[in-house]
Amino acid sequence: MAGAGVFSEILDGDAYKYYSNGEWKKSSSGKTVAIVNPTTRKTQYKVQACTQEEVNNVMELAKSAQKTWAKTPLWKRAELLHKAAAILKEHKAPIAECLIKEIAKPAKDSVTEVVRSGDLISYTAEEGVRILGEGKFLVSDSFPGNERTKYCLTSKIPLGVVLAIPPFNYPVNLAVSKIGPALIAGNSLVLKPPTQGAVSCLHMVHCFHLAGFPKGLISCVTGKGSEIGDFLTMHPGVNCISFTGGDTGISISKKAGMIPLQMELGGKDACIVLEDADLDLVAANIIKGGFSYSGQRCTAIKVVLVMESVADALVEKVKARVAKLRIGPPEDDCDITPVVTESSANFIEGLVMDAKDKGATFCQQYKREGNLIWPLLLDNVRPDMRIAWEEPFGPILPVIRINSVDEGIHHCNASNFGLQGCVFTKDINKAMLISDAMETGTVQINSAPARGPDHFPFQGLKDSGIGSQGITNSIDMMTKVKTTVINLPSPSYSMG
Ligand code: G3H
Repeated sequence: MAGAGVFSEILDGDAYKYYSNGEWKKSSSGKTVAIVNPTTRKTQYKVQACTQEEVNNVMELAKSAQKTWAKTPLWKRAELLHKAAAILKEHKAPIAECLIKEIAKPAKDSVTEVVRSGDLISYTAEEGVRILGEGKFLVSDSFPGNERTKYCLTSKIPLGVVLAIPPFNYPVNLAVSKIGPALIAGNSLVLKPPTQGAVSCLHMVHCFHLAGFPKGLISCVTGKGSEIGDFLTMHPGVNCISFTGGDTGISISKKAGMIPLQMELGGKDACIVLEDADLDLVAANIIKGGFSYSGQRCTAIKVVLVMESVADALVEKVKARVAKLRIGPPEDDCDITPVVTESSANFIEGLVMDAKDKGATFCQQYKREGNLIWPLLLDNVRPDMRIAWEEPFGPILPVIRINSVDEGIHHCNASNFGLQGCVFTKDINKAMLISDAMETGTVQINSAPARGPDHFPFQGLKDSGIGSQGITNSIDMMTKVKTTVINLPSPSYSMG
């Protein structure tokens, strides 16, 4: 159970503590931040409202702990990560319970998120051992004008303190996708969880604590973005920021100093459907891609661009599947659960009303109770409607009918986002041409967009982000290249 058993030390009365110097602490602010359960709309948990002084303190600790950690053999770092992964998976039930209560993720998906996170940590440990265990050896005589008098050795060194800011929709998985690479590469880690999802993060951090990581190496500060958000991201002690979330990332990137940034800021993933597509496959993927976790995924299908000749048939197939979706509480493992906050639900409703006013065809009746919004397919959406461009982050999916492939590509590329996209056709040659023309970080052929498997590169163009994620790319991003050059007094050639 959350906050009980091995997790009892992270809870004080009705408020969860924050993690600093290997200990669970109450904030000196004496204040807490309430986390509202999206389903009941009542306060479910409370977390500490940390102060700027407490942030300064964790930064100091992180700086000093990193120096020792970087001298810890790579195999030992990997061993500890494997241990944390096993503990996390062992405690999947209480962590999944937190995900259900604070972000209304369906029960099965909540367990999957924790298990996936354990697997991600283990894979990161293995990948880290492989790629950080290797360097490069260069010789000077390959460059014109040089004799073989210089031997250059390259290796990858840590950056220092990594600040990780995951989003509400995958608070555990998108936290460990930052923590794992940072730690295996010899960095220390300061985690600022999202408010909704903070308690899941605190439980996950306790698994790292139980694994026995050194004091100060990992910290987790909770609190209001208005109090510690900018203070953290502009802190001089931070050497790298890995952020997943909304357009806050754009303002972070403008304010952060001269440090590496890894950002994933959402998408408006297009699904282009050609005349020869297998429409049952498309419909199944639209349901999975557009409506899983109630559309609250940055990689969700957020606009369907279908050729007019097959649009009626596709819309009928999707409608039939929407009718089968189970709507209700996450505890019952429903497909569509309440969206994360009331303000999100209001925003989604605004998009729906705009589409209604401008004449979109409603394939289902619009229905909302509290934060729970029934799945809705909007047909005949036109470019003058907000839903054609904006990210609802909810179970609302617009369909735009197109008369040419170019029209679909044009709509996809006119978006300020460029995360992923997908194309459905049996013609692989056409699919390749369309993939090359789509200005997105990834194009899926004959499947819905998705970040995983977690070792695949994951990146967005334009406002969708900076840098590339995925296990290998994140390890690379959280390191710098260091070279040592051995200068010989006279040329030396290996003679064989
Ligand atoms: O919400 C953003 C996530 O990176 C999407 O991950 O494709 O595994 O749902 P996913």
